[in-house]
Amino acid sequence: MARKVTKAIFPVAGLGTRFLPATKSVPKEIMTLVDRPLVQYAIDEARAAGITEFIFVTSRGKSALEDYFDHNPILEQELRAKGKNDLLETLEATNMESGATAYIRQYKALGLGHAVWCARRLIGDEPFAVMLPDDVIAADKPCLQQMVEAYEETGGNMVAAMEVPFDKTSAYGILDVAENSGDVIRVRGMVEKPKAEEAPSNLAVIGRYILGPSVLYNLNQKRKGSGGEIQLTDAIAEDISNGVPVFGYRFDGTRFDCGSKAGFLQATVSFALARDDLRDDLSQYLHSVIATDRAAQ
Ligand code: UTP
Repeated sequence: MARKVTKAIFPVAGLGTRFLPATKSVPKEIMTLVDRPLVQYAIDEARAAGITEFIFVTSRGKSALEDYFDHNPILEQELRAKGKNDLLETLEATNMESGATAYIRQYKALGLGHAVWCARRLIGDEPFAVMLPDDVIAADKPCLQQMVEAYEETGGNMVAAMEVPFDKTSAYGILDVAENSGDVIRVRGMVEKPKAEEAPSNLAVIGRYILGPSVLYNLNQKRKGSGGEIQLTDAIAEDISNGVPVFGYRFDGTRFDCGSKAGFLQATVSFALARDDLRDDLSQYLHSVIATDRAAQ
């Protein structure tokens, strides 16, 4: 049986250029869907999957992210004094235990693979999860939890996978499928950002991974891949040739690409419509906007 996964790496050292000028001073991961920062969704998903150690790979300008996890005793006291217990509960649910989070710097944004490699000393010789907070997944059972349960049966390496249109393969790591039956897909290769005509399938890797320490050894080579970056996909694919199995996991849920403006807006609308306190007003507004827009055409 596979070893228990208790550590997760959150690579958050990217520049977030698609959200400039906002990301000039606000880390992308602190941007909010309704009223919760992107990173909070990732932390809640990690906790549900049994993660107890949270390792952030950060860079210059990310101190707001570190502060976000601090307790805020003054605010808590104020809310308690005013009897605002709901808000107090909301706030306390975001508190992290002392020692549960670690921050490692990636001094140069050399790619996702390099960011993960930066955390190698904190991982040691254990399997670990990698979660990209940009990818927010709405699901009844949180995506990483689904994967941990599947991983307990398979071991090896596991990546979250979903079908994308062929004209979008060049934005993803794409799986070369050996055996495609059910949720767990046996993989024989992975290609980072292939053109549609070169893509071995339309099954794309998205930002949830469960990996063995061998991937970190592969990253020691610091080989550059697509776009001149050190790619995580390449290091995982290398494991296949070393005899370590790699599985794609077709998760149940809806993934929003919150690293893009369109995806972020879609997630905002979707998460707001799921809220009892916002649904009615927002859907009324959306209907009226759509009706007016159609009438104007
Ligand atoms: P992205 O490709 O979305 O890059 O990285 P980015 O810099 O965050 O955003 P854009 O494209 O400039 O708008 C995917 C994930 O990998 C992390 C990012 O922080 C993000 O979570 N990453 C990427 C690193 O931590 N280090 C890197 O060198 C590259």
